[in-house]
Formats: sequence, C-alpha cells, structure tokens
Amino acid sequence: MSTELLELTRAIALEAGQLAAQRRREGVEVAATKSSIVDVVTAADREVEELIRARIEAARPQDAILGEEGGASGGTSGITWLVDPIDGTVNYLYGIPHYAVSIAVVEGDPDPAGWTPLAGAVFNPAIDELFTAARDGGAYLGEQRIRVADAVPLEQALIATGFSYDAAIRGEQGALVARLLPHVRDIRRLGTASLDLVGVANGRLNGFYERTLNPWDHAAGELIAREAGAIVKGRGAASPSREFLIAGHPDVVGPLEELLDELGA
Ligand code: IPD
Ligand code: CA
Ligand code: CA
Repeated sequence: MSTELLELTRAIALEAGQLAAQRRREGVEVAATKSSIVDVVTAADREVEELIRARIEAARPQDAILGEEGGASGGTSGITWLVDPIDGTVNYLYGIPHYAVSIAVVEGDPDPAGWTPLAGAVFNPAIDELFTAARDGGAYLGEQRIRVADAVPLEQALIATGFSYDAAIRGEQGALVARLLPHVRDIRRLGTASLDLVGVANGRLNGFYERTLNPWDHAAGELIAREAGAIVKGRGAASPSREFLIAGHPDVVGPLEELLDELGA
C-alpha cells in the first residue's frame, strides 16, 4: 500500500509545486498574518493547499486530511494526510528559492506520538528537487537513493535549526544558538523545516533540531530522514513533537541532544 500511496503523494507534490512556482513567478504578496505579525500567509499558500486537498479527496475520499491552512477534515479509513502547501513561506515571500511542498501519509491520527508514517514527499520546485520515501522502501532524491552523512564529532557538525514565530520563544532560541555555536562547525537557519530534514537525509547537514514544529512541518521529512538512516525523535525516548524534534546520524544525535540539555534547551 505504501508504494501506491507514494506514487499519489509524489504526483500531487509535483503538481502543487509547479503551481507554487508559477504563482511565485507572477509575484507574491502577504494575504494575512496568523499567530504573529511575522507569521504570514500568501494567497498561494491557500490555493496550493486547495489543489492538494482536491487531488487527495478525488483519489482517496475516505482519508482524513490535516493541512496548515485548511485545518482538519475527518475520514473513515484510518489514514491521514499531513499537508504543508508551502513550507518556508517567508523564503517564498522574499523570492529565496528554498521552499517546499510537504505531503505525508500516515496511519492513525495526526499525532506524531501515535502515527505510523507510510509515505512522504518534499518537493522544492525552485530547484526541481523531489525527495520521497515509502515506509521500509528507502529514501530518494529523484531516482537516486540517499543516505545520512557519516557521523562526525560535534565540532565538525553542521547543524540546522529554526525559530518560532513567537517573539519570546525566538529570543530563547537565539540565546541557545549563541551558546551552541562555539561547539559545532556552524549553524544554518535555512527557513524550511521539511528541507532541513531532507538535508539531513542526504548528508547536506549533520543534524537538525527545532522546538514548536507542527505535524505538517515534519511528517514527510521525518520519514525521508529515517529511511535514509537518520534518527528523528523528541526528547529522550519521546516521539518528535511540538515540544522538541532532533534528527541526524544516531552518533551525532546522542551527543547533540546531551549538549543541548547542558546548554538548557
Ligand atoms: C516554518 C518553516 C521554518 C520553521 C518554522 C515553520 P512555514 O513553516 O518550516 O523553517 O522554523 O517553525 O513554522 O510557516 O514556512 O510553513
Ligand atoms: Ca511549515
Ligand atoms: Ca506553510
């Protein structure tokens, strides 16, 4: 079943990404703000999500959908789709070619503690990179199988992270980054959590951590990173959650989590 779902996920992500890229070429403006003045949505976010929902509903009317812009719609099949129509909206708004359509299919409710990811696609149409994975089927960039980078000591590790839209939380996150920076090769804030996770999956990054991610930010990238040999988890033995997510080669995640704990993450 995962293979069929993956084919559908891939087809929808490609079509949605092409629409996002076309709207970007035509010009993009802020349509509204959400949780804070810096948390923006464009008309394209909404239009792309509508397209994705229409394609899912046409192909699999019994499935549930949770999308960032359109919320939750119930289903009866026990399968849920997690949709981030444009992950990296701020990059998209500014014309930085680092944003993605992120679509995942999971068995169970849209709760990272209980779901089983079945298939996922993360597509950056600006540079035509499509990352995919099906459960137990490996992770791919296009047709190429991908693997997490070999473990390196933390002082040689390139670590990505991201920041919340909430000013108070951003302040804490920035202070933590300042304490982490002397211990690692360097830090990246690339602006698109799904691309951070697939960046771990194909060895562009040694690790990634973030607080306050939503299920649609990480569902697809989480499966792709795991299928590429990474660990993706929350604190200790917990599943990834809004509270915390960390990803990387198992021998990088261990020391990184320990260090983040020491630094007061
Ligand atoms: C955001 C991006 C960003 C991450 C934020 C997310 P959006 O998603 O993934 O990298 O740091 O936590 O909210 O709003 O661009 O879909
Ligand atoms: Ca997002
Ligand atoms: Ca988004």
